[in-house]
Amino acid sequence: MKIEKVGVVGCGLMGSGIAEVAAKAGFDVVVREVSEEFIEAGRKRIEKSLARAVDKGKLEPKDRNDTLARLDFSIDLAGLAECDLVIEAIVESMEAKNELFSTLDGLCGSETIFASNTSSLTITDMAAATKRPDRVVGLHFFNPVPVMKLVEVVRTIATSDDAFDAAFSFAKDLGKQPIAAKDNSGFVVNLLLVPYMLDAIRHLERGVASVEDIDRAMTLGLGYPMGPFTLCDFVGIDTLYRISEIMFDEYREERYAPPPLLKRIVSMGRYGKKAGKGFYDWSGERPKPLAL
Ligand code: CAA
Ligand code: NAD
Repeated sequence: MKIEKVGVVGCGLMGSGIAEVAAKAGFDVVVREVSEEFIEAGRKRIEKSLARAVDKGKLEPKDRNDTLARLDFSIDLAGLAECDLVIEAIVESMEAKNELFSTLDGLCGSETIFASNTSSLTITDMAAATKRPDRVVGLHFFNPVPVMKLVEVVRTIATSDDAFDAAFSFAKDLGKQPIAAKDNSGFVVNLLLVPYMLDAIRHLERGVASVEDIDRAMTLGLGYPMGPFTLCDFVGIDTLYRISEIMFDEYREERYAPPPLLKRIVSMGRYGKKAGKGFYDWSGERPKPLAL
């Protein structure tokens, strides 16, 4: 199956990156959001990222303009009917994702592949709720999408070879390096990464060191590009909290349980860098650790 037109539903941190790399790779991309306000925020994020590439001499201004011209933004789902592949990057909630796929089931052709960018939900539970379980896959991208090379391509026991191969080739066409992953909550990366991030919060609760010093330890001591608290803010505190709840519910293992401090930060609406505040205040030139 040849993928030519791609739908991206949800244009937040991840959806904007996925839409950007797909349009940059030459696909026509239909982007859908819940409101004009979110459309504008997503469009701005893409424009900023493309401007950064132009400034760095990695993208010609003409290619930037062509990329933007391939993006069709709207709040009307009808435009997704023509897509060969629809990737959802909406909030990490099974209920929301199933409701979306159920609408898309009635809208898109029977051959259209549905893909989820979920971090922690299982693709099988989404596939089972559609009328096309053989055409549902996971396409798990990493943040920031334009930079990170990996895509985890996930098949369920119902996914057809044709749908899996088409999704795998699509990831390659974006210039990514896909791996095949089984459909378990957290796939490969988050199985290992999520306990690490949650452990950092638990150790902070125990008072082993400050936010800044734990971050400094992991960057200077291990050469990680970001310390765990910067990474939590980068991923989104609300998203990390949902991921943690979902993985804990799935495995019933303590290492996936959300630490109380994570819950408190969510309650305060400190959703991380995208909200201006999380473990750090991101409003200034340099991130400043906040009181906890
Ligand atoms: N969009 C586009 N390009 C970006 C970007 C963005 N948001 N952020 C950085 N870049 C590019 C820069 O243009 C720069 O490119 P060049 O090297 O070609 O000049 C390059 O990335 C490095 O950027 P900077 O020099 O500004 O900053 P940096 O060296 O600190 O790198 C980083 C930034 C790439 C984000 C790096 O800090 C990093 O790799 N952090 C870890 C990210 C990570 O772990 N992501 C996975 C999160 S978990 C996940 O995604 C899964 C999940 O389900 C939760
Ligand atoms: P986000 O909060 O930045 O963006 C989600 C967007 O989806 C919002 O703009 C919201 O308005 C929109 N949305 C919600 N319901 C919608 C609907 N029914 N139709 C259209 N748009 C809708 O979240 P994010 O960080 O981009 O995460 C999106 C998905 O990607 C989640 O499943 C998350 O687990 C996964 N993911 C996140 C990361 C990360 O580092 N943040 C990495 C990989 C995967």
